[in-house]
Amino acid sequence: ARLVVLVSGSGTNLQALIDAIAADPAGFGARIVAVGADRDSIVGLERAERAGIPTFVCRVRDHGTRAAWDAALAEATAAHEPDLVVSAGFMKIVGKEFLARFGGRFVNTHPALLPSFPGAHGVRDALAHGVKVTGCTVHFVDEGVDEGPIIAQGVVEVRDEDYSDDGVALHERIKEVERRLLVDVVGRLARHGYRIEGRKVTIQ
Ligand code: GRF
Repeated sequence: ARLVVLVSGSGTNLQALIDAIAADPAGFGARIVAVGADRDSIVGLERAERAGIPTFVCRVRDHGTRAAWDAALAEATAAHEPDLVVSAGFMKIVGKEFLARFGGRFVNTHPALLPSFPGAHGVRDALAHGVKVTGCTVHFVDEGVDEGPIIAQGVVEVRDEDYSDDGVALHERIKEVERRLLVDVVGRLARHGYRIEGRKVTIQ
C-alpha cells in the first residue's frame, strides 16, 4: 500500500512508521510515498528528508480561503496516489474536498480516549477533568473533529505527579503507546484490508 503521512510538528509518529517499514520493507505491507505538512521548517519534514521521502508543504496563508487550501492539500496528496493517508500530529482540520477524496482511508491519531477530550488539548483537558486513565485513539477521519470511527485505542494510567507539569510527561507516556499503536494499525490496515460499517471498523 502507498501511504502519505501528514505532519505539523516533531514527527515522532512519522519516525516510528519510517523505522518499522525500514526494519521489514516487504513484511510491513506499505511504504511512505510522501510526507506533507501545513508549515515549513519542522522536524517532521527533516525526518522525511533524512529518509529520502519526497515532501510537500501546503500553508493556509498561501491560499485565498480555507476551502482553497483544502483543495490544494487534496491535490498535493492525490498526486502521490495514496491508498491510505495518515495524519500523524497534523494540527489542521481538513475540509470537504479532502474528505471527498480520502474519506474512509484517512487515519488520525489522537492523544486521548475518544470520544472523551477531542480537540487540540486532549492531554491537558483529560488532566483538568481528573481522569485516572487516558490514552490514545487511532480512528478514521470524518467531518467531525476527532469523531470518526475508532480503529484502536491504547490506555495510559495517570499519575499524581502528572499534575505538576501541565501534562508534558503524561503526553510523552501517551506518545510511546501511540507510536506502537499507530504502527500496528497502519500495518494491519495495509496488509489485511478493512471494512467500515457505521461506526464499526473490522480489520480483515
Ligand atoms: C501526538 O500525540 C498526536 O496525537 C498529537 O500530537 C502528537 C504528535 O507528535 N496530535 P509527533 O509530531 O508525531 O511527535
